[in-house]
Amino acid sequence: MTDSARRVAFLQEMGLGPIWSRRDIVSGTVSEFQEAPALEQVQPVPSVPATALIPTADAVQEQSVVQVTPRVSVDASVQHMDWLQLQSAVSGCRQCTLCHSRTQTVFGTGDQKARWLFVGEGPGRNEDIQGEPFVGPAGKLLDNMMGAMGLKRGENTYIANIVKCRPTDGNRKDRPPALDEATACMPYLERQIALIDPTIIVALGKTAALSLLKLDPATPVSRLRGSVHRYGDKPVIVTYHPAYLLRNLADKGKTWADLCLAMRSFETAD
Ligand code: URA
Repeated sequence: MTDSARRVAFLQEMGLGPIWSRRDIVSGTVSEFQEAPALEQVQPVPSVPATALIPTADAVQEQSVVQVTPRVSVDASVQHMDWLQLQSAVSGCRQCTLCHSRTQTVFGTGDQKARWLFVGEGPGRNEDIQGEPFVGPAGKLLDNMMGAMGLKRGENTYIANIVKCRPTDGNRKDRPPALDEATACMPYLERQIALIDPTIIVALGKTAALSLLKLDPATPVSRLRGSVHRYGDKPVIVTYHPAYLLRNLADKGKTWADLCLAMRSFETAD
């Protein structure tokens, strides 16, 4: 199968084949992909404390806010750890109550020198069992999204989550991480980002977007798409969470526009 045919297949898997294939086959270049919809620019709110982040669901769409009491963050020594030290710290972490119910921590996976970093919300049931992020149905869609971009899991890509342990509700169902859980876990992701030093970050869903960008909770998240945000000097593109897309097929087209914006941003990033 040629690269173009493979990309068309991925787009079809995302439910986009008939819409996007012609443009893709003809050009094959990032600059000629469909423009993302022009949306209002959203400015990060400076010096919003991490504790002000919203606990979020698995999509960019608006969802209910869970009130929680912020906890103290993990030790600053995390910021000096190498990969092995960091992995060890994560696997033994007891910074929040998620450690009590996890099967295992889910550290992240991929190329430690990747130029593309994809950040999700937190492990679900499958990930908790297998110890790898995005291995369930949402993971298959994420693989297809990456494939449509000419990327592949583990090759120049790294996949991580905001929290490393599976959040569950009282019925052992997956739920979004609470504020204190996301806050407690954030230093691990921050260290992963520092070690990887990716060119670009793709935030998958609301939890990832607001946690990474430290945005005012009052920010309407519907406006986060379509703009290039910053984590330090790194471009951050916000798109829908794959699990959300599985339930809302009509938004796959918007996601493709986001991924095209990411590809264009990648091309022009330092
Ligand atoms: N959803 C996420 O956000 N991360 C995973 O690893 C799996 C599902």
